[in-house]
Amino acid sequence: MMIAPPDQAAPPSSATTLRRPARVLVIDDERGPRESLRILLKNEFEVILTDGVDPGLVALREKHPDLVVMDIRMPGKSGIEGLREVRQIDPHVSVVMLTGFGTLETAQQAIRHGANDYIKKPFDTRDMMQVIRTYVERTRVERRRARVAEDLRQLNTELVDELTVKEHMATLGHASAEFVHDLRNPLTVVHGYAQLLAEQLDGIRDQLGEASQEAFEYLDVIEHNIQRCHEITEMWRTLGQDRSTAFQRVALAPILRDVVRGVEPQALSANAKIRILIEDESCEALADGLQLFRALQNLVHNALQALPKTDGCVEVFLRRSEDGTTLVEVRDNGCGIPGEHLGKVFEPYYTTRGTRSGTGLGLAITKKVIENHGGYITVESAAGQGTSFLVRLPVVV
Ligand SMILES: Nc1ncnc2c1ncn2[C@@H]1O[C@H](COP(=O)(O)OP(=O)(O)OP(=O)(O)O)[C@@H](O)[C@H]1O
Ligand SMILES: [Mg+2]
Repeated sequence: MMIAPPDQAAPPSSATTLRRPARVLVIDDERGPRESLRILLKNEFEVILTDGVDPGLVALREKHPDLVVMDIRMPGKSGIEGLREVRQIDPHVSVVMLTGFGTLETAQQAIRHGANDYIKKPFDTRDMMQVIRTYVERTRVERRRARVAEDLRQLNTELVDELTVKEHMATLGHASAEFVHDLRNPLTVVHGYAQLLAEQLDGIRDQLGEASQEAFEYLDVIEHNIQRCHEITEMWRTLGQDRSTAFQRVALAPILRDVVRGVEPQALSANAKIRILIEDESCEALADGLQLFRALQNLVHNALQALPKTDGCVEVFLRRSEDGTTLVEVRDNGCGIPGEHLGKVFEPYYTTRGTRSGTGLGLAITKKVIENHGGYITVESAAGQGTSFLVRLPVVV
């Protein structure tokens, strides 16, 4: 194989393609035509000379020429075979075939196989120069066109992906709006009947005696939570509106007591204990109370779901932390989280409960809410022994 001049080629990029002289690859087994092409082209082009199809293909891969001039009749692989392989390597490079006497038909066959033109040997130097300039330019235009087409194709794929996500979000948004709307009606019904029941029980309070006290407390919890559901649906209905006004100084202990109170029946039926330990009753946060309630409730729900069948225990602590933040800790002696899963629990849709019973959104919501309040959440866990979620919130001054 003969290649001239020595390798100075950098891999093609749009910048180098525009600046460097155009590169012409000549593939011809005969020394005469090769040499005359070198002399003819050397002032205007970078010329690469090879004496057969295989070395020519190597040069094509390495040097990315802007034009291939290839003889049709060569020992070993013919120009027609070479043409097929050239097209596989580089579909955009222009190819001009050189034909000897009596090979006109083969030249026409070459055109059918993807050659751009052919020139008869011996060639007229002015015609040759003209043809070479034309096809070098054609390759450059063709490559630019291919690049633009590829950019457009990519842009189109990205736009289609973006649109699919947006359509999905729009469908979800619409479905949530309907969901919120549909939920408000049965909630109103439950609220109405809970009030009716409270009134009826009140009417026979004397007959019921002491035993009715607990029933009234339960009804209180029911009413309180129906009210909370109303607030939650309202929050969803007004999603996207500025809720910064909802941030106020709130005491954390009552929120935690509310959360614990709400899950007591669940703990009871699971034979589990739930304890609340308030070390500092005065702990406050600048917060949207409803959002904090949601966030902390998720932690307590998860803790209860992780408990063993016997001797399960959930503890909720509120205290000032050594680092100057307010700390809420939800600790359980449940199944724990294996080390390799710890990093995933805050990811949306990560659940080990199966999609029928868990959405995997609980902790993602909690993390988002805590961070919106300027705080952060961490988790410590030992598989088989239990888990602690630690929420740190800024102290209100
Ligand atoms: N206290 C815990 N003990 C053990 N594993 C937990 C605990 N809290 C969370 N996890 C693990 O983290 C996963 C994600 O929790 P997350 O609250 O985000 O979703 P979920 O509880 O699975 O579903 P959903 O909240 O919709 O009921 C759980 O499926 C569970 O594997
Ligand atoms: Mg959960």
